[in-house]
Amino acid sequence: MANDQNKFQAIISHAKEYGFVFPSSEIYDGLQAVYDYGQWGSELKKNIKDYWWDSMTRMYENIVGIDAAIFMHPTTWKASGHVDNFNDPMIDNKDSKKRYRVDHLIEGFAEEQREKGNEQLATSVLEQMDALLAKDDFAGLKKLIDDNRIKCAVSGTSDWTDIRQFNLMFSTEFGSTISSDDEDNKVYLRPETAQGIFVNFLNVQKTGRMKIPFGIAQIGKAFRNEIVARQFIFRMREFEQMEMQFFIQPGTQKKWYEYWKEERMKWHLSLGFGKEQYRFHDHIKLAHYADAACDIEFNFPIGFKELEGIHSRTDFDLKNHQEYSKKKQQYFDNDIDPATGKPYGNYIPYVVETSIGLDRMFLAVLSHCYEEQDLSTAEKQDSRTMLKFPPRLAPMKLAVLPLVKKDGLPEIARKIMDDCKSSFRCFYEEKDTIGKRYRRMDAIGTPFCVTADHQTKEDNTVTIRYRDTMLQERIHLDKVREIVMKAIQ
Ligand code: GAP
Repeated sequence: MANDQNKFQAIISHAKEYGFVFPSSEIYDGLQAVYDYGQWGSELKKNIKDYWWDSMTRMYENIVGIDAAIFMHPTTWKASGHVDNFNDPMIDNKDSKKRYRVDHLIEGFAEEQREKGNEQLATSVLEQMDALLAKDDFAGLKKLIDDNRIKCAVSGTSDWTDIRQFNLMFSTEFGSTISSDDEDNKVYLRPETAQGIFVNFLNVQKTGRMKIPFGIAQIGKAFRNEIVARQFIFRMREFEQMEMQFFIQPGTQKKWYEYWKEERMKWHLSLGFGKEQYRFHDHIKLAHYADAACDIEFNFPIGFKELEGIHSRTDFDLKNHQEYSKKKQQYFDNDIDPATGKPYGNYIPYVVETSIGLDRMFLAVLSHCYEEQDLSTAEKQDSRTMLKFPPRLAPMKLAVLPLVKKDGLPEIARKIMDDCKSSFRCFYEEKDTIGKRYRRMDAIGTPFCVTADHQTKEDNTVTIRYRDTMLQERIHLDKVREIVMKAIQ
């Protein structure tokens, strides 16, 4: 691959060609930053979801999962601070009328400079931007854009409006009871799943008899009106989050913040992509609810970018929900506070949050596992594209292929399918040469193919082919299920 941008484009094309990700409503030319997952994409996505859900709710005995509604009472978003604070500074180009998120515009400029070899300018512009964003210094940011003559990609001009804040929440209205004209009664599409956990904190704590520290996990859709929505499924308007709020005693947040940073990094490393693919990035400008925050960044083909956020959210959310709802959000703690020698008593818990985008995780897996291999020999040109998914994440675990469509081989292959299909996802195919069928399986990341041939009729053995090495060996057909099961556990 010539460079990572080419690789990124190749991955996007591959994702479409092989049924992983399609642009939404493509027959109408698509909808910007909205995507559909196809037949193999939805399997991969589900496997990533299960991997996260199982590790969160099974491996930690003090974490339980919920599934809260997308619509929430409008006051939720006032209490959470999203109505007032969930804004991005934006700037419009006067000629093209195109609106940009200020940080994306400046980052785009820095990227261009980097590609031209102006590393020093790129770094300096990004440092200045971070400092100005941290102070909400919009005049300073505008000057930075003007001084560097940053241009609009559409009009090519540098004629910009002043910088203004835009809220990222989508809103709608409910039946006839709420008027869309009434700002106070707007119903929002949730911009994060976390609030569904906060408003259910006491429901879960009481009915589950949970004792602090404990966590509540959730997977679900979130919506943000991202102005500059680009880079495929990296930044979408409708996406899914996998979030966990961990409720703790006040004053212990530093310890738990460090604990969850380490635990979440371990989870990522368990996929075996290599630790050089990840790094922590501490936030300089903290979100309105946090007293400490960092990202786990992944080495995407578009560079190191945020994959997961870990946030120490203090008691900000529960305290505000208590104030707005007038319902106590306290927990009674019998444990002895070492500082006073007395029980902690009633308090509003502090929270450490782990929040990972499912779609970003999908992109991390897809882009890391995408590989183009040159298999040419002196005699002939050859290549293959494969998705080297860890077997437990692969959409399809096993392909069962009769060598030919006759001589009783399809019947044998069907028997193998029947033996395996209730345990894991299998694919049966008898069309085309065996070589073509193997390559198609490589392209969707199937780790194992078994082929029933004429020898199978004699000794009940089949060929098993391993995707990554392309090596083949003969095994007894009773062993197929066991081999695949072992690899996906
Ligand atoms: N509850 C905290 C929260 O929502 P965030 O950093 O805004 O924090 C958490 O989002 C994660 O959600 C991000 O690390 C990213 O993986 C994912 N995410 C956020 N915005 C996204 C978008 N527009 N498209 C896809 N994923 C997104």
